[in-house]
Amino acid sequence: MRLNIVGCGKLGTTIARLLADSGLVSLGGLYSRNRENAHKTLQFCAGGSVCNTLDALPRADLWLLSVPDDAIHSLAGQLAQLFPDWRGTTVFHCSGIHTAMLLAPLKQQGASTASLHPVHSFADPQQSLSTFAGTSCTLEGDIDSQQRLSALFSTIGARIIAIDGSSKALYHTATAMASNYLVSLMDMSLGLLEASGIAPQAAKELLAPLVMQTASNIFAKGPQKALTGPIVRGDRDTVATHLDALGQHSPELLAVYRELALVTLALAQQARPEAGDLHAEIGKLLSCTPRSLS
Ligand SMILES: NC(=O)c1ccc[n+]([C@@H]2O[C@H](COP(=O)([O-])OP(=O)(O)OC[C@H]3O[C@@H](n4cnc5c(N)ncnc54)[C@H](OP(=O)(O)O)[C@@H]3O)[C@@H](O)[C@H]2O)c1
Repeated sequence: MRLNIVGCGKLGTTIARLLADSGLVSLGGLYSRNRENAHKTLQFCAGGSVCNTLDALPRADLWLLSVPDDAIHSLAGQLAQLFPDWRGTTVFHCSGIHTAMLLAPLKQQGASTASLHPVHSFADPQQSLSTFAGTSCTLEGDIDSQQRLSALFSTIGARIIAIDGSSKALYHTATAMASNYLVSLMDMSLGLLEASGIAPQAAKELLAPLVMQTASNIFAKGPQKALTGPIVRGDRDTVATHLDALGQHSPELLAVYRELALVTLALAQQARPEAGDLHAEIGKLLSCTPRSLS
């Protein structure tokens, strides 16, 4: 099965190499607007041939459009104008938020289309070669493309999860919240530790085991059982002290503390319904807390 890659960036280069190494595909044309990028992919994969223009791409069974999300639809339109007959081909992209609908211009000309989103960070292609196995990949689109991609990606260790296209926006919001907002939360927490007089390196060493242990508990026991701390215990005065400390030192963080405390309180009420009275007191405290003192 021959695979063309359009967009020789981090994901395209890594997927090209993983699929080529599986022996189930041979690399066909490699195209990127900047020819250097296509040459780097060729070197990394030790296969395929660099095409200087889109219309020089050879016929292929499989096409991966691994360009930025915002470029996928117009690229599909360009390809549809250049090549009239797409029957027998599978064309897919790897965007987490968009569906196979972006590839409609090619589907109208006979292509079978799909979107396959690996929940993986392709920051370093070399490293991803050894860490990709076990990655969950959500898949939607035409049935024959789903079958083809499911078989191929399972061979390189992906866990395929079928997803309804209409749910992709919500699904992507969930993964972005977990990954991006964890970073923001850690940044806020490290800043507060430093403000409390703990040196930056010591702050990281203090936080890392706590965060790793919490993450491990969440995935082993579920969020309700992993929840510890003053809110679930019902320690109203401790929460009041947190609010005072933030009000004095970092009032810009009061709003985010309060909103997360309310979410935590709802979880705490499910985890410890017997502490209902204590939780109600915390609820009153939070509801009369200003969103910000600044
Ligand atoms: N990186 C990740 O961790 C990750 C994870 C899951 C899904 N994805 C998805 O994978 C896709 C690619 O992301 P990426 O991170 O690999 O991006 P990237 O590293 O920026 O690569 C995109 C490549 O596309 C090329 N390109 C841009 N516009 C083009 C066009 N109009 N025609 C042809 N080539 C074009 C760019 O190089 P030139 O300037 O040479 O054209 C670049 O090499 C996106 O849909 C993204 O949502 C990425």
